[in-house]
Amino acid sequence: MVAEEKKIKGRKNGLYPALSDELAASMKSGWADTERRGLEPVEQAPYAAKRRAALSARFPGERLVVPAGRLKTRSNDTEYAFRPSSEYTHLTGDQTQDAVLVLEPRLGEDGETADGHDATVYLLPRSNRENGEFWLDGQGELWVGRRNSLAEGEQLLGLPARDVRKVVDELVEACAERPAPTRVLRGHDAPIEAALAPHTTLRTDEELRVFLSELRLVKDDWELGQLQNAVDSTVRGFTDVVRELSQAIATSERWIEGTFFRRARVEGNDIGYGSICAAGPHATTLHWVRNDGPVREGELLLLDAGVETHTLYTADVTRTLPISGSFTDLQRKIYDAVYEAQEAGIAAVRPGAAFRDFHDAAQRVLAEHLVAWGLLEGPVERVLELGLQRRWTLHGTGHMLGLDVHDCAQARVEQYVGGTLEPGMVLTVEPGLYFQEDDLTVPEEYRGIGVRIEDDILVTADGRRNLSEGLPRTSAEVERWMAGLRG
Ligand code: GLY
Ligand code: MN
Repeated sequence: MVAEEKKIKGRKNGLYPALSDELAASMKSGWADTERRGLEPVEQAPYAAKRRAALSARFPGERLVVPAGRLKTRSNDTEYAFRPSSEYTHLTGDQTQDAVLVLEPRLGEDGETADGHDATVYLLPRSNRENGEFWLDGQGELWVGRRNSLAEGEQLLGLPARDVRKVVDELVEACAERPAPTRVLRGHDAPIEAALAPHTTLRTDEELRVFLSELRLVKDDWELGQLQNAVDSTVRGFTDVVRELSQAIATSERWIEGTFFRRARVEGNDIGYGSICAAGPHATTLHWVRNDGPVREGELLLLDAGVETHTLYTADVTRTLPISGSFTDLQRKIYDAVYEAQEAGIAAVRPGAAFRDFHDAAQRVLAEHLVAWGLLEGPVERVLELGLQRRWTLHGTGHMLGLDVHDCAQARVEQYVGGTLEPGMVLTVEPGLYFQEDDLTVPEEYRGIGVRIEDDILVTADGRRNLSEGLPRTSAEVERWMAGLRG
C-alpha cells in the first residue's frame, strides 16, 4: 500500500482496513477529462471587480487578506452546510469553502510608490487522483461532489487562481520578502490569522472589517436584482404557508418552518436566518426560532422569514396573520396601530433623510396609541423622551439588508444609524407591539398578543420602493388574501 494513501484513509472503524495495490492503481486511471473550457465569468464578476478597486484605493500599499472561512463540525465527521463570509463573496462572487482572496500591493516604476493591487483568489483545486484523495478522503470529490479546477475558477471569477493549500506558506513568504502593512479579515480562518499574527494588529484589521461593511451600504443594480429575487421567493414562501395553515393547525409550528424552508431550498440557497414561526403567545418572543408549539384557531401567527438566493442575498419579511382567517376586534386594533406605525416609518424613508427618522416616526405612532389606550400616561413627548413605549415595542424599527440579514453591522455609527439615507440603500421597516403573557401592567385580554409587520424598502432617487409590496399589509387586505388562498 502506498504510504500517502494509507495516511489519507486513516479512518478508525472503517469496514475496509486495507487497500490492495491493485485497487489503488485501478482507481488512479480510467477517468475521462471533464475539464470545462471557455467558461463565461459569473454575472457579478464585473461588480466584484469594482468593489475590489474601491478596497484597493482605500488601503494603498497594503497586503489585504479576506478568507471565505472553513467547514464547521456538526458532529464527528459531519459538517454544517458551508456558507462563506459575506465579505469574501461580495469581493469575488465566489462561495467556495476554504478559499481566500489576497490583494498584494503593487509598486510603481520607482519601486516605492503604491500603484494598486494584484488580486489572487486561492481556491481548493480538484481532488488529487494520484494519491487517492478524491475517493479516500471524506472531503474528496467522490464523497462531496466535483469542485471547479483552478483554471475553471479563474474563468468564472475573472481572477488569477492559486491552490489554497499553499496560501499560508505563500503569505508568510510574501511578508518576509516584501514587507508591507498587512491586514486580515478576522473571524473566519484561524490558521491564516495565526500565520499572519506577527504582521497584523487588532486595530488595523478592524479598520478593514469596518471598511468592507461600509462598502455594502449602497447596493449596486445587480445586488438590487438579487434582493428583489429574494423577496419574490419569500412572498411565494408566505403564500405556501397560508395555503398549508390547516396542516399546521393539525400539527405544529414545525409545519410552517418546513413549508417555508421548502420554498427557500427549491428557489434559493437556504433561509437567510432562522425562520420565526411564532403562533399565539410565541409571537411576543422576538426571535422565536424553536418553532415547536401549537397553532391554534383564534390566535395570531407571526411569521418572520426570508429566502436567501443562490447568490446569498436575503429577504427579511414579517406578516402577522389571524390563524382562523379573520382578526378579533382587539387583534385588529393592535394590528392596525402597528400598520399605522409602519406606514409612518416607510413614509420617512427617502434620500437625504436621517437614517433614524423612520424609527422615530414609527415609535411616535406606537407611543400615541399606547397613550390613547390608557397603557401609558401622556404626554407622548414625555413617553418618547423616557422611552417608556419600549416595554411593548422592544426593538429598533429596522436595519440594513443585503448579504447579511442585519447587513453592514460593522459600519461606523456615523455612517449607519447616525448617517443619512442614500439611493441604493435597502432597509427593513418593522415596527411591532408585544404584550407578554405575564405582563400585569396591561389588561388581561392583551396578554400573549404580538404583532410585527416588516417590509424591505429600497431608497430610490426620489423616495422609496417597497420590494415586498407583493404581500398584503392592511388588516382587511390580509384577510382577503388569506380567504382567497384557503378557498
Ligand atoms: N428578522 C429578524 C430580525 O430582523 O432580527
Ligand atoms: Mn428584520
